[in-house]
Formats: sequence, structure tokens, C-alpha cells
Amino acid sequence: MIALDGVSVSIGRIGILHDISLRAAPGQMVAVIGANGAGKTTLLRAISGLVPLLSGSIRFDGNDITGHAAHGLARIGLVHVPQGRQVVPGLSVEENLLIGARHIAERGGIAERLEREYRRFPILRERAPLPAGALSGGEQQMLAISRGLMMRPKLLMLDEPSLGLSPRMAAFIMQALSALRDEGLTMLLVEQMARAALAVADTALVLRRGRVVLSGPAEPLRHDRQLVASYLS
Ligand SMILES: Nc1ncnc2c1ncn2[C@@H]1O[C@H](COP(=O)(O)OP(=O)(O)O)[C@@H](O)[C@H]1O
Ligand SMILES: [Mg+2]
Repeated sequence: MIALDGVSVSIGRIGILHDISLRAAPGQMVAVIGANGAGKTTLLRAISGLVPLLSGSIRFDGNDITGHAAHGLARIGLVHVPQGRQVVPGLSVEENLLIGARHIAERGGIAERLEREYRRFPILRERAPLPAGALSGGEQQMLAISRGLMMRPKLLMLDEPSLGLSPRMAAFIMQALSALRDEGLTMLLVEQMARAALAVADTALVLRRGRVVLSGPAEPLRHDRQLVASYLS
């Protein structure tokens, strides 16, 4: 579904990502873990076309998308749920969801998608007319995920969905991602909460200072104490 080969990114003159290769097959969930500042957000931004590559290439769903602009990518099914949710605080919950459906022409399709998200997260139905800014952090994260899903993504990229949430809410969000995985959605999950991410992902890649220091099936990595001690503390 997505393949990065030898991707490097510099911001100004500073190298942020170095020679990153990554693959996610259809239906797979790939976790990208690493400490604060490791380059996780920059990696997603590079895939989304929000920062230019210094070198390397990105293929998505059979197409070379290296250097493609962000807005076109959502339309072909590559959807990014950014770090910090970034819902529009002054718009209602429902209006925020409709932003995710802005490319869809037929009204029936939109209603069906809304219904699907309200079933997934019933609290969003209850909050539908309220300004998104009035929601709790966890509710805003649900909204950000649902807004992304309104686009019917082929690949959903999530940047630290658990950030700033209570352990209970973080676990709830992870469970929702696990359910999406069971639905067959392909996902790239960026997390600092390594154990939680490794518990739901199929494969994982550990970033440290912009480099891949480990990659492979998630399950064995989850039991690797040294990994947690060396890279994730
Ligand atoms: N716009 C920017 N300008 C300068 N440095 C940046 C910028 N964005 C990210 N960085 C730097 O790149 C590194 C990786 O940041 P980031 O991708 O946000 O890491 P993570 O998401 O893993 O915490 C950090 O050292 C950060 O300071
Ligand atoms: Mg980040």
C-alpha cells in the first residue's frame, strides 16, 4: 500500500530524517515509535507532502507520489490525522466531520458516512451541535479520527493519538484503532506510547534521531526490554 525507500529530509541545513525505508501492506498496521524529537511527525509530514524530501521516493497504492502536494493525496486515499488533533474549535462537531467529506458530491453518501462515525463514537452524535473546542481531549481525538475516516482512506496515518490523554482514554482510542485494523484498514501509527502501539500493530519501526534503529514484527519487539530501556525512555 505504501513504500518509502531511502527517504531523507532536511529542515534548513539540519538533517532530520536519514535514509528511511518503510513498507505497509494492505490491511497492515505499522507502528512508528521513538522518543520525543526522533522525527516521527516529520516522517508523516514528509509522506503527506508537507515537507519536501532531500532524497528517496514514496510509492502509494501503485503510484509514485514523491513530491506530490498534500491536498491531492487526501483525494487518492492517503489521510493524515495530525499530532494535536487540529479540529476546528469554532465549528461544530458535525461541521468538522463534514470537512472530511468535502470531496464527496452526493448527499446520500455523506449521510451514510456520518452515521457510520456516529455509530463508531456515539459521544460524537451527542455532541454533534457543540463547538469542537468544547470537547475533551479524548473526544477531540475521536473527532479527528472520524474526520479522517469520512474520506474513506486507503491509508490512515495517525500522529500520537494518545498524546495528552488519560490512560483510560488512551486505551479507549487504541481499542478503536484495533477495531479499525480488524475492519481491514491500513494504518501508520506514530506513538511515543510504545507498548500500547506494539500491542495493536503488526509490524513496527523504531526511530532514533531520524534513523531507523530497529524494525520487524511488533510482537517480539513488545517483549524486548532492552529496546524499551535504550530507545523509548
Ligand atoms: N519546522 C521545523 N524547524 C526546525 N526544526 C524542526 C522542525 N520540525 C521539526 N524539527 C526538528 O526535527 C526533529 C524531529 O522533530 P519531530 O519530527 O517533531 O519529532 P517527533 O514527532 O518524533 O517528536 C526535532 O529535533 C525537531 O526539533
Ligand atoms: Mg511528533
